[in-house]
Amino acid sequence: MRRTFLAPAAAAATLMLAIPASAAEPTPGAPGVGDPYYPDYGNGGYDVAHYDLRLRYQPRNDRLKGTATLLVKATQDLSRFNLDFALDVREVRVNGRVADVAATGAHELEVTPDRPLTNGQRATVVVRYAGTPSEVEVNGFTSWHRTPDGGVAANEPEAAWWWFPSNDHPTDKATYDVSVAVPDGTQAVSNGVLASQRSEAGWTRWNWRSTEPQATYLATLAVGKFDLTTDTTAGGLPVLNAYSRELGPHEGAARASIERTGEVTEWLEGYFGAYPFHAIGGYVPDTDTGYALETQTRPFYSPRKFQHGSNVSVVVHEMAHQWYGNSVSLERWSDIWLNEGFASYAEWMWSEHAGEGTVEELAAYAYDSVPADDDFWTVKPGDPGPENQFHGAVYNRGAMALQALRTEIGDRDFFAVLKGWQRKHAGGDASIDEFVAYTERKSGEQLDALFGTWLFQPSKPAVGPNGGAGG
Ligand code: ARG
Ligand code: ZN
Repeated sequence: MRRTFLAPAAAAATLMLAIPASAAEPTPGAPGVGDPYYPDYGNGGYDVAHYDLRLRYQPRNDRLKGTATLLVKATQDLSRFNLDFALDVREVRVNGRVADVAATGAHELEVTPDRPLTNGQRATVVVRYAGTPSEVEVNGFTSWHRTPDGGVAANEPEAAWWWFPSNDHPTDKATYDVSVAVPDGTQAVSNGVLASQRSEAGWTRWNWRSTEPQATYLATLAVGKFDLTTDTTAGGLPVLNAYSRELGPHEGAARASIERTGEVTEWLEGYFGAYPFHAIGGYVPDTDTGYALETQTRPFYSPRKFQHGSNVSVVVHEMAHQWYGNSVSLERWSDIWLNEGFASYAEWMWSEHAGEGTVEELAAYAYDSVPADDDFWTVKPGDPGPENQFHGAVYNRGAMALQALRTEIGDRDFFAVLKGWQRKHAGGDASIDEFVAYTERKSGEQLDALFGTWLFQPSKPAVGPNGGAGG
């Protein structure tokens, strides 16, 4: 959903009237959007406005099956198009008619409708599928983490392939309805608001709704035995957290951290502007993966994040991503600094707020504690390469880069940039180049050299982030 779109009822009416109008032959949509790091991720020729996922999951044998209905709009005259997906497909229909479908790679489906789509035409794509996600490996890995009581889809950038067919690139955001039936006594957790839930014949169906544009890798599904807590923030946001019932000794620390999500979010609003979505929360499944992920409105937290006790810092990090990464998405995966640098900087700000060390102290320490001959300094936060997308340099040197910017332009312009950038691109996507240009406009300063040094120089900057030779 990159531009405006009609409501589904209007879309259906448009379809019936659509007549191929152009003289040129329709052509196949590209199998990728041409991302510099992942050229075959996403697809050309159409945009998705909405995903409706109606699924059933059996934890006993890790069996996921159901139907995905995608409301799409063609952006060219289209003879065929690709979807990104790794499970087995039973049938695809485009506008109600059975389409030809072929798996052309481990995560690519090629769909040929029986009639071409015309540029601007809205279409309904229905995909019926089934699979055992934990058994499906692509390039030697799976992003579906099996747990003793179910499973969870959470990874970056590849997460959707294991549970729904999509146009898998952050530049094509959409709204979602995720409806998942699981055996009674088990919970299914996803993004947004729990719209309803209903039990019938031994199965409980959980209906989740996300009404703001969401990138595919930020959609999540967790099935397992969870304890759900609900609340409302002082500002009126609905909070829903979910804790696996098997967290053992990590349970207290997880709750002591995640139950502060509302407080953290309202504190972040003071610096970043109004929270961009209409629900918040977090969830902790019974998984031994080590990371956290900013899945939209409801981050995924590995229990290991709480192994040393409470960790509000990780909550601050994942909630900061709701502004930087989720509302303002990456234009290309090489722009990852716009996500991780900002979320890491927010952790330093929280530390100062909590009285655990000022931003200046933490930036100085981050700079001083890594010697110039360390490989750390060879990774360019502004273009780390796909193999280093989540390297510590993207996070820590990325945060130092923001501190260097603040030192240069001063607090007033720096905080105006943080808020203004968010306001300008909310619900869309943007690049590092645009950020540099925006910062220069706001501050009236020439900042190419500063960003060149901090984001693109493959060695330790001679001057520290606070403007001195040390630190
Ligand atoms: N964006 C996530 C975070 O910083 C990082 C996810 C890393 N992904 C992974 N598979 N390790 O919170
Ligand atoms: Zn992050």
